[in-house]
Amino acid sequence: MSIFFILSEIIKTRRTTKPAQFNGNKIADEKIEQLLELADWAPTHTYSEPWRFVVYSGDKVNGFSKLHALLYQQFTPAEKFMQGKFDGIIANGEKSSHIIVCIMKRTNEKIPAIEEIAAASCAVQHILLGATALGIASLWSTGGMVLHPAMKNHFQLDEADEILGQLFLGYSDEKIEGRRKIPLTEKVVWER
Ligand SMILES: Cc1cc2nc3c(=O)[nH]c(=O)nc-3n(C[C@H](O)[C@H](O)[C@H](O)COP(=O)(O)O)c2cc1C
Repeated sequence: MSIFFILSEIIKTRRTTKPAQFNGNKIADEKIEQLLELADWAPTHTYSEPWRFVVYSGDKVNGFSKLHALLYQQFTPAEKFMQGKFDGIIANGEKSSHIIVCIMKRTNEKIPAIEEIAAASCAVQHILLGATALGIASLWSTGGMVLHPAMKNHFQLDEADEILGQLFLGYSDEKIEGRRKIPLTEKVVWER
């Protein structure tokens, strides 16, 4: 089996899996450490290495999702507040084995922000692909308060830093089919 074939299989079978589809089984912290090790090999302009991760494991998973839900309640006007969304944020934590908050941290102001977001996003994708290879299900989510300034404030980030999302990780028994709506031919221009 060629390395390309193995890599293709991992890339093509990675699927977004929502925490509601997780089976509740826990991932060993050592496996999460292996995924973070992969993240650290993302490409990086000038070795600014702008990816940062906050990993929630064990009881801290529910602790973080409760805090997340409370931030939603605190920063949402009463007329817009949805109890279902509040409960959903907490439920996502209850179903997950781990949550990883993925951050782009500016370390070199000479590098344009888009490059640092690109590099940190590659690091996130390394985690997702590594998870797939280990049979771990994942959801990259920017839902809830992830992109709200209150979340940035919670992590004491600087103005120029960005939270790229939270990863919900767990095991799942469900088989999810992948799909793409736009043909690849519409996304590629060859000049030859
Ligand atoms: C930056 C980013 C943010 C996302 N945020 C959410 C989200 O908040 N909720 C959600 O259900 N899916 C989210 N997704 C997952 C996409 O919905 C998912 O990738 C898409 O449906 C394609 O499915 P696939 O990943 O299985 O190919 C996000 C994906 C990316 C790249």
